[in-house]
Amino acid sequence: MKLICANFKMNLTSRVLKIYLDEVSGKIKDNVVFFPSVLYLSMFKERGYTVGSQDISFKEFGSLTGDLSVTQLKEFGIDYTIIGHSERREFYNDSKYVKNKVKIALTNNIKTILCIGENLKEFEEGVTLDILKKELDTALKSNLKYINNDNLIIAYEPIWAIGTGKIPTNKILTETIKEIKDYLQESYNLKLKVLYGGSVNLENIIELEKISLIDGYLIGGASLNPDKFLSLINKVN
Ligand code: 13P
Repeated sequence: MKLICANFKMNLTSRVLKIYLDEVSGKIKDNVVFFPSVLYLSMFKERGYTVGSQDISFKEFGSLTGDLSVTQLKEFGIDYTIIGHSERREFYNDSKYVKNKVKIALTNNIKTILCIGENLKEFEEGVTLDILKKELDTALKSNLKYINNDNLIIAYEPIWAIGTGKIPTNKILTETIKEIKDYLQESYNLKLKVLYGGSVNLENIIELEKISLIDGYLIGGASLNPDKFLSLINKVN
């Protein structure tokens, strides 16, 4: 079964989420992981869903105002975390912290979804693979002893596809995901799952599902509406 991750980002409130949870009740399979705001993790946990955090701090404890420690997040029952999302890389300089965050997550037995992806300029210049390899190297090189084929998952999210309604062609996506998998195998002897993220929606899911190398999806906007999300996940094999 493919892994489906719903990244709510900084959206929705407890009032709306109560309605959301009622609407999806009984219709969510085990392959779905919710990433709501940490404020609402317990609402999802109480209903028996698998949850993750959208980020973790690069340290376990300390004087880091506003940060959330993996140990604190574990108290809310997270099994997963996202690390290196492009929004965090852009606004919070997260590329600098990815290495430490991956280490902290994995040594605390939290499954890590590592986001990688090129921006539009890089895509147009044809340097996508260089960017992806660099981001993989930064996260993996010093952490190899903590990584296995189950605890680290790669999410390929082209930055230019996030929230834009644009996605790569199936040909480009197939080639890119194959390159990512080959690189992980050849350089690190790892066989990791690779998710696709960036404007996954009801219109493009049928085409995306033709790409057998995709192991799941990281879904933003299309996960915010319960009916749309249910229709979407029902189209995933
Ligand atoms: P959208 O699905 O809204 O493009 O967001 C993708 C994303 O960033 C998921 O992490």
